Amino acid sequence: LPEQLTGRSIVLVGLMGAGKTSIGRRLAARLGMPFRDADTEIELAAGCTVPELFERFGEKEFRDGERRVIRRLLAGEPLVLATGGGAYMDPETRASIRREGVCIWLRASLPTLLRRVAGRVHRPLLNSGEPADVLQRLMQARHPVYAEADLIVDCGDESPDTTTGHVLDAL
Ligand code: S3P
Repeated sequence: LPEQLTGRSIVLVGLMGAGKTSIGRRLAARLGMPFRDADTEIELAAGCTVPELFERFGEKEFRDGERRVIRRLLAGEPLVLATGGGAYMDPETRASIRREGVCIWLRASLPTLLRRVAGRVHRPLLNSGEPADVLQRLMQARHPVYAEADLIVDCGDESPDTTTGHVLDAL
């Protein structure tokens, strides 16, 4: 790992289906760093699933919890962190990610994302309409913000190991 990266966390951002969790896990193994998934940590802290959190308390409460969980994770030892797709849109979360870590946007096309999220029921935002329309709207709103990441890695339909290699090359 390049010198300027030692001691810093690596934070993966991008839309649902981009592969943040599977790439993050592999990246952590290759770098010998701990791995955490923000959604999983929120579920552990809340004692219920992300869809249940959305349903019971609404998106605002979920985002508040997400902000706290990410701040706590980044305050500890350096790690590889996979965030939920909306986390980086929160100005405070974005500031803590940019302060504590190297931020990588896993960028994928609409067809790739659609293929990956097809049939998944555990993503509450996708239930609000046709998945293609929802994702397209999210792309429009979020891509300009994701573009502030330190590094951008394009992910096509290649294997997670191949994408992980691209991330390692980019670092
Ligand atoms: C969300 C993405 C999800 C999860 C929640 C909201 C979003 O995470 O945090 O359903 O706003 O894009 P993944 O990106 O891991 O699916």
